[in-house]
Amino acid sequence: MRQKNEQLPRHVAIIMDGNGRWAKQHSLAVALGHRKGVETLREIVRYASDVGIEVLSLYAFSTENWRRSKPEVAALMALILEFFRSEIDELHANRVRIRILGDTDALPGLQRDAVHAAEQKTKDNDGLQLNIALNYGSRDEILRAVRALAQQVKNGNLQPEQIDAARFEALLYTAGQPDVDLLIRTSGEYRLSNFLLYQNAYAELMFPEVLWPDFTVQHFAQALADFGKRDRRYGGRAT
Ligand code: FPP
Repeated sequence: MRQKNEQLPRHVAIIMDGNGRWAKQHSLAVALGHRKGVETLREIVRYASDVGIEVLSLYAFSTENWRRSKPEVAALMALILEFFRSEIDELHANRVRIRILGDTDALPGLQRDAVHAAEQKTKDNDGLQLNIALNYGSRDEILRAVRALAQQVKNGNLQPEQIDAARFEALLYTAGQPDVDLLIRTSGEYRLSNFLLYQNAYAELMFPEVLWPDFTVQHFAQALADFGKRDRRYGGRAT
């Protein structure tokens, strides 16, 4: 477990990969891999909240995930609804604040209502900021921000030379939050898959081999400990 005084990342982002392979390994339907993945998610959220991580961002459903088979998309949507309905009270009691990253307009009505209700209910909480990326794509997010800035310029409310990082970041789903410090992708895949491309600019990257359903708080604690040993230079030289 973690030692006190280790440097803790403020913002951890996780690409929860490997549910499908886990299901295959256990000769189960892919939906059961995702269900097991939600159990892991629950444990990791609880742990992140307990150790005092400020922001945890989880990639639950990408803009590309709609291309999966209809039954798999339906299973994921059902799990998302179940999660928000069954966990919201405990999350709220633990002062977790939920924000959805992504275009929720395209979600089915029940899911959209459930996630908006969760955001609304928890909006004044001061504990862990839990970002759940749903129908999220980083390029979409960036293009939306660019379009909004272009509109402000067109309306005469902004000069192009006034466009700076702060104005741009204020238009991202993660507005007001720190950059990602640590990105973890499970299952031994080494890709970012359109997740928080701007926010990950200086993130430390970790790619544990373990499949997401097998990822435990011990793996997470190890990743946090390894992060504490990394030498972050942001383009400067080691001191
Ligand atoms: C990647 O595994 C995982 C996903 C595409 C979905 C992650 C979603 C959850 C863990 C549950 C739903 C979220 C909430 C908020 C309740 P994969 O299926 O791509 O794995 P594979 O590469 O082994 O096939």
